[in-house]
Amino acid sequence: MTAYQKQCITLQAAPKTWLITGVAGFIGSNLLETLLKLDQRVIGLDNFATGHQHNLDEVQGLVSREQWNNFKFIRGDICQLQDCQAACEGVDYVLHQAALGSVPRSLVDPITTNSVNIGGFLNMLVAARDAQVKSFTYAASSSTYGDHPALPKLEDHIGKPLSPYAVTKYVNELYADVFARSYGFYCIGLRYFNVFGQRQDPNGAYAAVIPKWTAAMIQGEDVFINGDGETSRDFCFIENTVQANLLAATTQDAAAKNQVYNVAVGDRTTLNQLFATLQSALAENGIHYNKPAVYREFRAGDVRHSQADIGKISQLLGYQPEYRFAQGVHKAMHWYVQDLTSA
Ligand SMILES: NC(=O)c1ccc[n+]([C@@H]2O[C@H](COP(=O)([O-])OP(=O)(O)OC[C@H]3O[C@@H](n4cnc5c(N)ncnc54)[C@H](O)[C@@H]3O)[C@@H](O)[C@H]2O)c1
Repeated sequence: MTAYQKQCITLQAAPKTWLITGVAGFIGSNLLETLLKLDQRVIGLDNFATGHQHNLDEVQGLVSREQWNNFKFIRGDICQLQDCQAACEGVDYVLHQAALGSVPRSLVDPITTNSVNIGGFLNMLVAARDAQVKSFTYAASSSTYGDHPALPKLEDHIGKPLSPYAVTKYVNELYADVFARSYGFYCIGLRYFNVFGQRQDPNGAYAAVIPKWTAAMIQGEDVFINGDGETSRDFCFIENTVQANLLAATTQDAAAKNQVYNVAVGDRTTLNQLFATLQSALAENGIHYNKPAVYREFRAGDVRHSQADIGKISQLLGYQPEYRFAQGVHKAMHWYVQDLTSA
């Protein structure tokens, strides 16, 4: 039995109260689904800046009525301290996901990204500390590696940030570390590497590459590749990310606390390979996309290559990714085909 399977059994036997910020978003709503299915009590905070009510509705349809009754939603903003305080009341574990994602968004509007991702983060830290929660697990980012050329990425070797977004995520790590040292507050940062899966938004100017390309292919539109297509990423299926959050929040090992961890698979896939994989996964679902990709300029702020070393999280938290890239794409594709062809 894996550490994750054991932890799920322990949680189900003695349910806890969790706060998920950004609960109406992609990662937040997947955390919600898993926790409710494990009969946990969940408080969710979101202001619908980029999240959607339909994500919550979908989760409601996937759990029992009793499980759904364990969920309390607060419509609120992490930039308001009182909203954070209200959300933290009586909470055991915080999973802080709320932020404005996207490197390009942060280049267009660094001020808003800064106030949500840093100001809002600090509000959440203060509220969670004052509520004496057991742990504070937060969404960090692989963008923190910036221009450091080494591959695979090891947690302690970071370069200079390449975007305002990356700065905000790095500042989160600095604040969490200072809170751990100054107040004995237990924080864990999870540096996500390109998460993908069900409920990731395919729409909008700042959509992530997998949902954006999948939607374009299903609708028969052009797919644009920024650069030569040899840019690479360690794409991580959402279920692996959920696993990392639950293990991080509940660890009892002192050495594992107050750390930052890579959350990925340890694989590296180029954009050209991604294009081909999505094409064939769609073909398995009866959708044939035969247009060639359209190549255009490299995008500002993008890291060229990204691949995680997952040794630290495996060793200290017992993380074992259940899905490699292709298996994740296969699972996610069913959802995209259903979601986008029924829209
Ligand atoms: N998806 C990835 O590949 C990835 C990679 C690295 C890090 N992350 C981080 O993971 C977290 C979740 O990302 P996601 O992909 O689920 O994005 P998402 O946009 O789907 O979810 C973010 C959620 O936060 C909410 N939110 C934003 N501002 C808020 C505010 N001021 N108050 C309350 N709620 C607010 C949004 O409405 C949304 O529901 C973010 O912190 C993001 O930076 C994601």
